[in-house]
Amino acid sequence: MSQNVVTVTALSPPMSRKRAALSRVLPAGVLRRLIETHRRTRTILALAGNGLYDLRRYLRWSSAGREELSQAQLAALVTLNYHRLEKGLALKTPRPGFGQDAVRLLMSLLDRYVARYGVDDTARAGIDTLDAYRAFGRTHGLNHPEVDAAIARLGGSRADGVPPCGGTIPVDRATVAAAAPADPEAFFATRHSVRQFADAEVDMDTIARAVRMAQRTPSVCNRQSWKVHVFSDAEQKRRVLSFQNGNRGFGDQASKVLVVTSDLQHFTSVGERFQCWIDGGLFAMSLVYALHALGLGTCMLNWSVVKETDRAMRATAGIPDNEVVIMMIAVGHLPETLSVAHSLRKPLEEVLIAH
Ligand SMILES: Cc1cc2nc3c(=O)[nH]c(=O)nc-3n(C[C@H](O)[C@H](O)[C@H](O)COP(=O)(O)O)c2cc1C
Repeated sequence: MSQNVVTVTALSPPMSRKRAALSRVLPAGVLRRLIETHRRTRTILALAGNGLYDLRRYLRWSSAGREELSQAQLAALVTLNYHRLEKGLALKTPRPGFGQDAVRLLMSLLDRYVARYGVDDTARAGIDTLDAYRAFGRTHGLNHPEVDAAIARLGGSRADGVPPCGGTIPVDRATVAAAAPADPEAFFATRHSVRQFADAEVDMDTIARAVRMAQRTPSVCNRQSWKVHVFSDAEQKRRVLSFQNGNRGFGDQASKVLVVTSDLQHFTSVGERFQCWIDGGLFAMSLVYALHALGLGTCMLNWSVVKETDRAMRATAGIPDNEVVIMMIAVGHLPETLSVAHSLRKPLEEVLIAH
């Protein structure tokens, strides 16, 4: 597609008084450049202010450059490091003795975590992964006395017959194939952004079922930074939606309004500063497909807002500073028949580039 710059004149608003006065004393070209410079400067200042807002929150809530960690930050580091081992164990031919650094770091993080918070699911997944790592080593004649000691100190191996929650799991192709939708194209083609809903309530069990499905979304080192805030009460929905600019004419018909967020405490480095939007966006897409699979209608609602709107909505909705809002989602039952926007897709050749 052409990258030519287009000047929009036909739809420009009527000339302001100030501009009209300037146009009497300045040549048209000079005035145009002046206005352009003024607009660009205002945009740069607004971008810098909003960028600083994001930066301040990332500095405050991510664990980048921090020694003192919250439980969520420490749990994210435990997860990151046990998952490094899970990934290694999931290779076709893991290298015996791989990941010594990750093992050492995981053991020290687990010591810190368990001392403060005990053995919860996160710690258990870490311990089970150490156990799987040790078992893999043994099959190659390697002993890891420091891992033996850590497992013993952290509470020991799983009791016989209790399934582990870390390490690897066996999967077979036939099971994956059997679970595929009968008509994959139709499943994708029948998901539309829905802007008219039936009156019936969507119950919380259905939302919970969809969220559970969406929890299968991949995330960076399995950190799962996402959260879903659900609003059902008419007044609450109205207030939350009043900060969003794309729901006019249908937001009030949604049975549930979801606000998808990403908790910055899951991110650990400067390089991960944009990861919250990526993982949160992937999760939101899964959630929409999960709701679609359950026969519900959804419309994603952008959260492309400036910091003042973000702050005001989060205060109203009770969403804390450590959570970045990814988007809202309107959810409702489908009417028997409805219209949806055509939303033409680009030709495949524009999207799919074979190298
Ligand atoms: C992040 C995101 C934000 C969106 N925000 C809005 C919105 O505020 N209002 C709206 O009516 N639709 C919104 N949409 C829906 C898009 O307009 C729609 O997905 C697109 O036109 C494709 O149509 P389809 O979803 O029906 O396939 C949004 C979609 C995405 C992915």
